[in-house]
Amino acid sequence: MKIAFVGKGGSGKTTLSSLFVRHLAATGAPVVAIDADINQHLGAALGLDEAEAAALPAMGEHLPLIKEYLRGSNPRLPSADTMIKTTPPGEGSRLLRVREDNPVYDACARPVELDGGAVRLMVTGPFTDADLGVACYHSKTGAVELCLNHLVDGRDEYVVVDMTAGSDSFASGMFTRFDITFLVAEPTRKGVSVYRQYKEYARDFGVTLRVVGNKVQGQDDLDFLRDEVGEDLLVTVGHSDWVRAMEKGRPPRFELLEEANGRALRALHKAVDAAYERRDWARYTEQMVHFHLRNARSWGNERTGEDLAAQVDPDFVLGEEVTAPA
Ligand SMILES: Nc1ncnc2c1ncn2[C@@H]1O[C@H](COP(=O)(O)OP(=O)(O)O)[C@@H](O)[C@H]1O
Ligand SMILES: [Mg+2]
Repeated sequence: MKIAFVGKGGSGKTTLSSLFVRHLAATGAPVVAIDADINQHLGAALGLDEAEAAALPAMGEHLPLIKEYLRGSNPRLPSADTMIKTTPPGEGSRLLRVREDNPVYDACARPVELDGGAVRLMVTGPFTDADLGVACYHSKTGAVELCLNHLVDGRDEYVVVDMTAGSDSFASGMFTRFDITFLVAEPTRKGVSVYRQYKEYARDFGVTLRVVGNKVQGQDDLDFLRDEVGEDLLVTVGHSDWVRAMEKGRPPRFELLEEANGRALRALHKAVDAAYERRDWARYTEQMVHFHLRNARSWGNERTGEDLAAQVDPDFVLGEEVTAPA
């Protein structure tokens, strides 16, 4: 299951991503956590100290390796040089699985020990001004998008992405890559306006978008979110002393998280698992092709000097039953 946490900076994306990752790990589920936020704090929120977080390998710096591995023996991709972030898999491509070992995880993932088990953590690496444009060839999130487009994940295994709701994710199609998107919103006009914008982009793509209210204190906050967001409001989370203690570098055991916040995490988990029933691999594949053709036309063809539409394998449908090439 692929899950995104998006929202305005400071709303609590990283905090809630990390709590949800801890919750999943405590159930014993296999988890890959990916930090694709402009401010790279997921490692710290998962308890890494500054030196450990700084030592994490950046996916953005391993793009050539990622492309080379994923292309496999796909005859439509004779070289990794012309692969862009939206290049879809086809016959012969290598796919990624949550539980396996592979060269992409070797290069880009590090284990993080949590109460209940270890998760894999991957980070895009720090963003620069050049990463925030619409049409970036060397986009940091491009590494994440390539991995998501080559991932065959099943029920009961989880990829959690802490993500910026930026123009890059809309232009590339990254926002369509998830079984469910949790939009974290504080009960403020700004928090809600990010929700409206996201909803507008998501409308035509069948994106499952649910709002998680954060820093909600009392009835007035709750009423505000209900009025503005309606049925999309899934749960709310209040101020957490557990989070505050964690930020002081003194994380209590996870089972000591406030009962109400634990309940909220279980509600997120339930919503994620329910989203499995709405999975549609054919649509997922069609959408990656749609965004690839769009990116090819708008900048990719020109940049690579090739017709990138030729990378599309018209008979290929990603899915759990697709077998890896020998
Ligand atoms: N429910 C909460 N309880 C206590 N502190 C919180 C809560 N949610 C967020 N915070 C704090 O608010 C700040 C911003 O949260 P963060 O998760 O970093 O936001 P984002 O990733 O959206 O920019 C952090 O210092 C974080 O610890
Ligand atoms: Mg963050």
